[in-house]
Amino acid sequence: MADYLPFDQVRRIAVLGTGTIGASWTAYFLARGYAVSAWDPGDGWKANLREFIDRAWPQLQTIGLEPGADTAALTFLDDPVSAVSTADFVQENAPERLDIKKELYGKIDYALPAQAIFSSSTSGLILSELVADLGTSHRFVVGHPFNPPHLIPLVEVVGARQTDPAVIDWAMGFYKHIGKHPIRIRKEVPGHLANRLQAALWREATWAVVNDLASVEDINAAISQGPGLRLAVMGPHMIFNLTGGKGGFEKFYSHFGPAMESWWQTMQGEPELTPELCAQIVDGLREEAGERTINDLEAERDRKLLAVLKALRDTT
Ligand SMILES: NC(=O)c1ccc[n+]([C@@H]2O[C@H](COP(=O)([O-])OP(=O)(O)OC[C@H]3O[C@@H](n4cnc5c(N)ncnc54)[C@H](O)[C@@H]3O)[C@@H](O)[C@H]2O)c1
Repeated sequence: MADYLPFDQVRRIAVLGTGTIGASWTAYFLARGYAVSAWDPGDGWKANLREFIDRAWPQLQTIGLEPGADTAALTFLDDPVSAVSTADFVQENAPERLDIKKELYGKIDYALPAQAIFSSSTSGLILSELVADLGTSHRFVVGHPFNPPHLIPLVEVVGARQTDPAVIDWAMGFYKHIGKHPIRIRKEVPGHLANRLQAALWREATWAVVNDLASVEDINAAISQGPGLRLAVMGPHMIFNLTGGKGGFEKFYSHFGPAMESWWQTMQGEPELTPELCAQIVDGLREEAGERTINDLEAERDRKLLAVLKALRDTT
């Protein structure tokens, strides 16, 4: 790792794109004591970013700020080249479109300082395709967070064919250094790993709507009031290790495996995502949400997430 900066020498992080994910990353990096250079081409982005940070800061204070952490360490830049040119690390959060990200990468390619690492938040694009034409492609990696990144610990780290393996190690180490829980994904596949798991679950949740298995509210409760609670504590393989009782995973495998396999056989094909289906789910969500607006729901999610994270920390 000799060519790349020691983690404690990273001072300034550039954030490109400050929508849902970029704003949350910005708040997190500031809370960890970094200077942040932010850029976004959208209208009103500076006020929106400031407003997001003001809302997230009390939550980050609850988790604990790094000494010296200060929201005043945020600089707003008017172009991406200026933002990356003084950065030790870049977190890119542009819209999830190959053409948009490729154009952006082309612009900043040679502006990236010699030791800087560039990490993309992409939820599922293939990095090898995004960096195919770049001169500095060996310093690009995926660092895929979960919404909201200022609270959720997971970051999936994936390299492109062109990525220097030392850069993947560096990114793993850096995310850990700043308090995240990075996992290394060994192969490039659409959706990485966690989003594929989510997509499999959502396919079934959608199939349940199409086939009128239960109301949208009850389908939500089927996870949040049941298996979702366990999944916050242990992953799916470890949960099933306990489903087998004292016989462990082998017992589960022989006892429940054949049933699961027969259910899988009924899960062929995908529900078609039609406008009518979208409207049906939206109606169900409106009924469940009642008077609660998106802002109210976000605040509720974050308040409960903070409590869960604290409980998990206190019980390890
Ligand atoms: N929303 C999620 O749950 C989530 C979770 C993890 C990762 N991601 C990934 O993060 C990235 C951003 O997603 P989002 O949900 O924040 O989207 P978003 O639409 O909320 O924000 C995108 C931002 O990019 C800006 N933008 C537009 N053109 C741009 C350009 N050429 N260069 C830079 N920025 C540009 C927009 O003005 C906007 O502020 C995507 O790659 C997405 O896959 C999203």
